[in-house]
Amino acid sequence: MAMVTNKVALISGIARGQGRSDAVRLAEEGADIIGFDIAADDPSVEYPLATKEDLAETVRQIEATGRRAHVAVADVRDYDAVEKVITEGTDRFGRLDIVIANAGIAPVTNQLRFRRDTFVAAIDVMLTGVFNTVYPAIRHIRAGGQGGSIVIHGSTIGVVGGILTEPSPGEIGYAAAKHGVVGVMHTLANAVAADRIRVNVVHATGVNTPMVVNEAMGRHFQDHPEIAKIVVNPLPVPGGMLEPADVTNTVLHLVSDAGRYITGQSVVVDAGYTTYR
Ligand SMILES: NC(=O)c1ccc[n+]([C@@H]2O[C@H](COP(=O)([O-])OP(=O)(O)OC[C@H]3O[C@@H](n4cnc5c(N)ncnc54)[C@H](O)[C@@H]3O)[C@@H](O)[C@H]2O)c1
Repeated sequence: MAMVTNKVALISGIARGQGRSDAVRLAEEGADIIGFDIAADDPSVEYPLATKEDLAETVRQIEATGRRAHVAVADVRDYDAVEKVITEGTDRFGRLDIVIANAGIAPVTNQLRFRRDTFVAAIDVMLTGVFNTVYPAIRHIRAGGQGGSIVIHGSTIGVVGGILTEPSPGEIGYAAAKHGVVGVMHTLANAVAADRIRVNVVHATGVNTPMVVNEAMGRHFQDHPEIAKIVVNPLPVPGGMLEPADVTNTVLHLVSDAGRYITGQSVVVDAGYTTYR
């Protein structure tokens, strides 16, 4: 039986990578999807972000499952724009049950990571952006009266910190944002439990997406071979990285009835990375 039949899910950063994987799998499991993405580049990172074509491809894949998609171009740093997407999507689909705060950037490579504004950029997208996604969604989940589930994509860096060759604002900002979302999660989990709304963070180790599989990251790893020696998952992982589907499996568990008594948790999908010290 499908795991989220006739539920409605909101997903940020939906155009590719983890966001697309979560969206298409939830659609396969019976959910309609509301989503948004900046679908434009960000000067804080050296690699391209998603495009409008990527966003259209996500829509195509959702609709191929037979479910509906309501997507828009919006910047997660813009509270009003995100709230508008949520309101329009819930008006169209009639309810909201699931939120996945996923949009992210990795200002962690080469010289760019030493710019002080990359610290702020990381916090803006991955901490303030998470707040902008989950906070305006809560009233819509509450209005349905059937509870719901919120998942925030963290990172193993949000559990054990990043591994830096030198302190850099971008990398510290990424780590701070991913630790910060745990505070958002704990506080919200306490506040909305009585409404049967659950809130959890999923912390993944390296995942095969364009955030880490790109030219800039390749160069960075070449320039700093010591990083690859330290970043080792104890469980053998083909290619050294998880696939987005591996993380989506845990997300699906958390947002479906299978996870109905799990809330306030940092759930790691890390091939043993955070405990192997
Ligand atoms: N790939 C990894 O190794 C890894 C590991 C752990 C956690 N994560 C987390 O998973 C999440 C998804 O990342 P991914 O690996 O799929 O990366 P990705 O770069 O492939 O996808 C991120 C998406 O977010 C969008 N986005 C970026 N800034 C935005 C903004 N301001 N507003 C709206 N959308 C924006 C991008 O356009 C892109 O579609 C992130 O929160 C990331 O930190 C990734």
